[in-house]
Formats: sequence, C-alpha cells, structure tokens
Amino acid sequence: MSETAKLSLPDGQSIELPVLTGSQNEKAIDISNLRTKTGHITLDPGYVNTGPCESTITYLDGEKGILQFRGYPVEELAEQSTFIEVAYLLIHGELPNKEQLGNFADRVSKHSMIHEDMKLFFEGFSQNAHPMVILSSMISSLSAYYAEASGKASIENIGINSARLIAKISTIAAFSYKKSVGQPFVYPRDELSYCENFLNMMFSVPAESYDIDPEVVRSLEVMLILHSDHEQNCSASTVRVVGSSMANVYASVASGILALWGPLHGGANQQAVQMLQQIYEDGGNISKYVEMAKNKKSKFRLMGFGHRVYKNFDPRAIIIKKVCDRLLNKLGVNDPLLEIALKLEKAALEDDFFIEKKLYPTLDFYTGIMYRAIGIPLNMFTVMFALGRVPGWIAQWKEMHGDAKQKIARPRQLYTGPNKRKYLLISERN
Ligand code: CMC
Repeated sequence: MSETAKLSLPDGQSIELPVLTGSQNEKAIDISNLRTKTGHITLDPGYVNTGPCESTITYLDGEKGILQFRGYPVEELAEQSTFIEVAYLLIHGELPNKEQLGNFADRVSKHSMIHEDMKLFFEGFSQNAHPMVILSSMISSLSAYYAEASGKASIENIGINSARLIAKISTIAAFSYKKSVGQPFVYPRDELSYCENFLNMMFSVPAESYDIDPEVVRSLEVMLILHSDHEQNCSASTVRVVGSSMANVYASVASGILALWGPLHGGANQQAVQMLQQIYEDGGNISKYVEMAKNKKSKFRLMGFGHRVYKNFDPRAIIIKKVCDRLLNKLGVNDPLLEIALKLEKAALEDDFFIEKKLYPTLDFYTGIMYRAIGIPLNMFTVMFALGRVPGWIAQWKEMHGDAKQKIARPRQLYTGPNKRKYLLISERN
C-alpha cells in the first residue's frame, strides 16, 4: 500500500499527500497537487528541502559521505575508470563495453576541433577577461554552428551534441589559456586520450617537444571524474531550469557554466587557493583565519569548507588528498600552500565551531593545489571544474527531457510587497 502524509491547514482543509520512496529508501512528500487542491504553496528558500525531479543519475548521502554514479561508488570509478568512461556512464546509464567505449571516445575525438571562425571570437575579449566568461560565451555560440542544436532537434540529436560539448569545451578552455599567454593555439590530436589531448593543447608549443607525464594524466582523469556530477546542485539545477524552457543544450550548459563560476559553488576552488596564498603571505597565522571564519561580523569564510549536503565528510576530498600526495611526490613539488592547507584543515577539524556546524573540507580545498602543480593558472581552476562537470550537465538535461512529468520550471512565491495603491503623477510625489 502506498504511503501518504496528512497535512492539516489552519483554514480547516486537510490533504493526503503521497509519500514516495527512492531506491535508497529516501522519502519525498509529493506536493505537486498541493496548490491546485488547497491554494497553498510551499516556501523553501534555497530549495533546501525541495526535490524538483526524480533522478537515476547520482546518489549522494551527505550524512554517510556516500557518492555513487548510476549505482557505482565514486571511489571505484576514480580508481579504475577514465573520465570518458564515466562520461558515457552518466549520459547512457551503463558502463560501456570495450566497443562502446572505443566508439564513444572516437566520436568525442572527432568533434574536438572548433569552427575556424570561432577562433576570431577570442580576439574580441579583453586580455584580462575571466576564462569562465569566455568559456560560457563560446559554448553558447556553438548553437549558432549546428543545425541539430535548436529546440527539439537538440533533444533528438543529444548523442552528437554531447560528443561536441565534451570535446569542444576542452579545446575552447585550452585556446583561451593560449590566448591569455600569447602563445599559438595548439590543435587537438585524435590519437591522444581526452586528458592527454587537453594537456597537449594547454602546454605544448610548436618550438619544442612536450612529453605528457602519465602521472599528470591519471591525476587529471581522477579530478575530472570526481567533478563529473553531483546531483541537483546549483549549476545542474540551472541547466535543468534553462533547458525546461526548451532552450538548446548548448545554451543550457553555457548557463550552467555561469552558475558554476560563483564563489559559493565551483568558483570556490579559485577562492580556496587565493585564501591559502593570503594566509601564507600573512605569515601563516592559521588561528587568526580560523577565528575570522568563526566571527560572523568579519564576513570571512574558509573557502573550500562546508557543503549544503555533506555533513560528515566529502568522499571526493578523501580520494583527491591521496592523488594530490602522489602527484606532488612524482613532480617533486614542495608547495608551501599544501602545508598551510593541512594545518588549516587540522585546526578547523578540531575546532568546536566547525564540528558543531559540520563543516568539512570539500574537493575544492585540494584540487587547486594539484592544478598549481600541473601548471594550470589560478583563474582557470573553475574552468577545470566545468570540464569535468559537462557530462553531468548533459546527463541531467537529457534525463529531464525524457521525464514524462517534466514541465517548464516556474516556481511560485509568497508576495509580501504593498497592496494595490493609487498611482501618483510625478508632480504629486514627494
Ligand atoms: N566558513 C565559516 N563558516 C561557515 C562556512 C565556512 N566555509 N560554511 C558555512 N558556515 C557557517 C555559516 O556561517 C552558517 O552559520 P550560522 O548557522 O551560524 O548562520 C552555517 O555554517 C551554515 O552555513 P550556510 O551558508 O547556511 O549553509 P549552506 O548549506 O547554505 O551553504 C556553502 C553551503 C557551501 C555555500 C557554505 O558552506 C560556504 O559558503 N562554503 C564556502 C564556499 C565553498 O567552499 N563552496 C564550495 C562548495 S563545494 C563545491 C560545490 O559542489 O559547489
């Protein structure tokens, strides 16, 4: 028998609401008929308790620190898989067999070049334009180049559009870096794997040979896998909201990129390293910054700490910490910011304020140190997050369009402004 919840309202009405159970026994009260039947809406700033959809992509238990993509623990995927394999898993729902993986990887490689005209777009941005703005603009511009990109066609052709997005975002990211340092663009090469190709486009120059370090490649694979989806976060929700108006997948992903840029979301990886740098330059006084973070009046937060959903630990942070150690050892990098990060982490984890509020370091707290070690500049850290998140955004967008219950996203509000009042001519106003 299906479960229901009974809601009694102050005006005497009452309603039985269906209670749905997810595959991990999560419970959700279905309020989709609440307003029609009672005239009431629910109020939930920041959607803290609101599930806008059912989803089969990612399972996240923030209390237990569990993260699974399509049922597979992220720890196993990070250990065994490549980013392209996980992208396939997220978009198609199953891990690929050898042939499927080969075909998918080939398809992505084949679409890695951007239209030559698009290179001119880079000229239009000022030298100090943030790469996230460039990335978002370039991704939304892709809709102008492909007939399969518009409205309904972008749903029917999600296969080719996915390959284009995954492939071209890395080319665009690398080109924007090359533009910022005044070096020639390095074109993609099909014989390289996704991560090798990205590193080659970023760091090789025509004047000398460039050896791709397998340890750097593996670290990059893991970082991208860990970023690849995170259920209904701010940017994924943005992609769904924009896509729900039948905007095409490029426009939707471009909007997701801009949502990701914010310092409370993906932008935190840049902010976290800036904060570590500031602490370092300020003499490494950890307790001063921990105290500042505790003091509400200071408005200072420990960036890379705290998460809406993780209230125990971030499983991704545990994985990345090990990969970070291995990478820094291999590259022989002795980054003073890592020492600051470890001291800060220890101080915060032992402090009652952080313990009580369940604030733990997230993935973003460590990835910046790895990006620095690889040679990726600070303002491109969030671009790296976007590169990893593209398959997740596509999977969310695709799932939404296949959902029979899907509607245009259009939340309600509780209006608290003035009631109807008399219009005064400008000459009559004080
Ligand atoms: N440093 C100090 N205090 C904090 C921090 C922090 N990093 N994060 C939360 N708090 C405090 C906050 O002041 C609040 O205190 P009180 O209850 O006394 O008002 C309490 O903890 C709860 O914070 P909140 O902002 O209401 O919680 P939220 O779930 O709305 O926000 C968050 C989550 C990630 C925006 C927040 O923890 C934060 O601003 N962290 C720093 C930015 C950051 O690292 N963001 C990356 C998140 S992970 C990447 C991603 O997936 O987006």
